[in-house]
Amino acid sequence: MEIIHVSAECYPVAKAGGLGDVVGALPKYQVKAGHIAKVVMPMYRTKFLYENDWTVDFKGQANLGNWFFDYTVIKESSNKLGYDLYLIDINGLLDRQKIYGYDDDAERFTAFQIAFVNWMIHWEHQPDVIHCHDYHTGLIPFMMQYCYDYNGLKRIPSVITIHNAQYQGWMGWEKSRYIPRWDLWKRGMLDWNDNINPLASGIKCASKVTTVSWSYMDELRISSNGLEKLFEFERGKCVGILNGIDNEVWNPATDKYLEHHFSVKNVATGKKKNKAVLCERFGLDADKPLFVFIGRLVGEKAADILPYAIRLAIEQTQGQASFLVLGSGETAVEWEFQQMTEPYKGVFNVVIGYDETLSHLMYAGADFLLMPSRVEPCGLNQMYSMRYGTVPIVRSTGGLQDTVVDMGDPDGFGIRFNHATPEDVNYSIGRAVSVYQDSTHMEWMRKRMMQIDHSWESTVDEYTNVYKSLK
Ligand code: ADP
Ligand code: GLC
Repeated sequence: MEIIHVSAECYPVAKAGGLGDVVGALPKYQVKAGHIAKVVMPMYRTKFLYENDWTVDFKGQANLGNWFFDYTVIKESSNKLGYDLYLIDINGLLDRQKIYGYDDDAERFTAFQIAFVNWMIHWEHQPDVIHCHDYHTGLIPFMMQYCYDYNGLKRIPSVITIHNAQYQGWMGWEKSRYIPRWDLWKRGMLDWNDNINPLASGIKCASKVTTVSWSYMDELRISSNGLEKLFEFERGKCVGILNGIDNEVWNPATDKYLEHHFSVKNVATGKKKNKAVLCERFGLDADKPLFVFIGRLVGEKAADILPYAIRLAIEQTQGQASFLVLGSGETAVEWEFQQMTEPYKGVFNVVIGYDETLSHLMYAGADFLLMPSRVEPCGLNQMYSMRYGTVPIVRSTGGLQDTVVDMGDPDGFGIRFNHATPEDVNYSIGRAVSVYQDSTHMEWMRKRMMQIDHSWESTVDEYTNVYKSLK
C-alpha cells in the first residue's frame, strides 16, 4: 500500500514531543513491512534542513483568503530516513525556527494544508491513503471532500490519528474565508460550538479515526476538552492503536548519544556508569536513587505539582533521594524549579530547555522516571525508560495505564498511582526508595521491562488493517 503521512512534526527533521517520534518512525517500519510510505511536513529552519540535500519537486501557487502565495515542495535526496520526505516551503510563513507558538499559527497551518491539497491535485497521484496527524492537518479530509478545487481527491481515503485532543486549533468563523471555495451546505462539517474546529472536522470527515492507546480511546468519550459527544457519536469509526517505539534509535546497546552502552545482560553495571556521568555533571550523589522527569512543563503533564512533590519527598526521605528535571514550558513552573536549585543543592537540579542528548543519558542513568500526567494519550517516555531499565512511576491514565504494570501486581515492574497530587507522587517515591534497597528485586524489574516488546514491528500491522478496512 502507499501511505502519505501529513504532520507538523517528524523526528529528526523537527520534533517538539512524541508526535515527532511517531511520525519519524511509523513510516520507516511501514516501508520495512513492504509498503510505500511518505511524509509531508512544513519546511521550518531546522538543523536537518541545512545539513541535508534537497531537490525541488514542485512549485505551485494557492490562496489563503485574499492572500495569494507561492509554495515550493522539496524532497530529501538521499532517502536518509528510509522513506520519502517532502517539505513544503511557504516563504515567510513556515520557514521559522520554531514549530509552534506564533500568533499566526492558524494561518501557518491552514496555508500548509491548502498547499498540500493543491500539490496533491497537480501531482495527479493516487496513494491508497492520506494519513493526517493531529489538528494541524485536521482540515485536509474536509478540503478533499468539500472544496470544489480539490474534490478530485475525494476518492482517496483519509485517516486521522489523534495524538492529543487537548489542542484542537479553534478558529473564529471569520477565518472561514481562508478555506478554498467550499460547499456552504457542509458548514456543519467544520463547526463545533460555533467555531471552526480543525480537529473536530478531521474526526467528522476522515474515513477512520485512530488514537494512540486503548485507554485514551475510552477516555476521549468522557473527557476530551469539549469533544466528548463527538467521540461518542463517531465511536464506530474510532480505533485505539498503542504507539510503538523506534528500537533502532532507542537502544541502550547502540545509542549514539551514550558513552556507556549496555544491554539486558549488564544492565546494573551499564546503568551505574551512565548514572555516574549524570551525577558528576549535576552535582548529585550517585549512591542515592536517582529520580528524573523529562518533558513539557505543562498542566497535562502535571508538572505544576512536581516542585512541591519533590520538596516533600526530599524532606520525607531526609535527602536520601536525588532528583533531576529536564523540560521547558510554563514560566511559573520553570521559575519554581530554578528557585529550588540553591536550597536543594546536591539532591536536586534542573535543566530548563530541550536537549535530546541529555534526555537519552537520563533514560540510561536514572533509576526511576516520574510521569504524574493528568492526561497522557500514550506517552513514549515510559516506554523509553523501560527499554533503558529505568522504573517508571506513573499515574494510571491513558497509555501509561496500558503499558505499566505496578510492582505489586503479578509480574509487575513499575509503580502506579491514581491522583495527580503531591501526596500520591510522594507516596510513590517512598515505595521506590524502599524497593531500591532491594538490589535483587531492582535487577529483576529492570531485566523484565527491558525485554518487553514495544517495537513498531509488532504494531505496524494494526495500521495496515485500518487502511485495508477503507478499501
Ligand atoms: P508529549 O508528546 O506529550 O510531549 P511523549 O511522552 O509522547 O509526550 O513524548 C515526549 C518526547 O519528547 C520524548 O521523546 C521525550 O524524550 C522528548 N522530550 C520532551 N521534553 C524534552 C526535553 N526537554 N528535552 C529532550 N527531549 C524531550
Ligand atoms: C502526544 C501525547 C503523547 C503521545 C504522543 C505521540 O504528544 O501527549 O501522550 O505519546 O503524542 O503519540
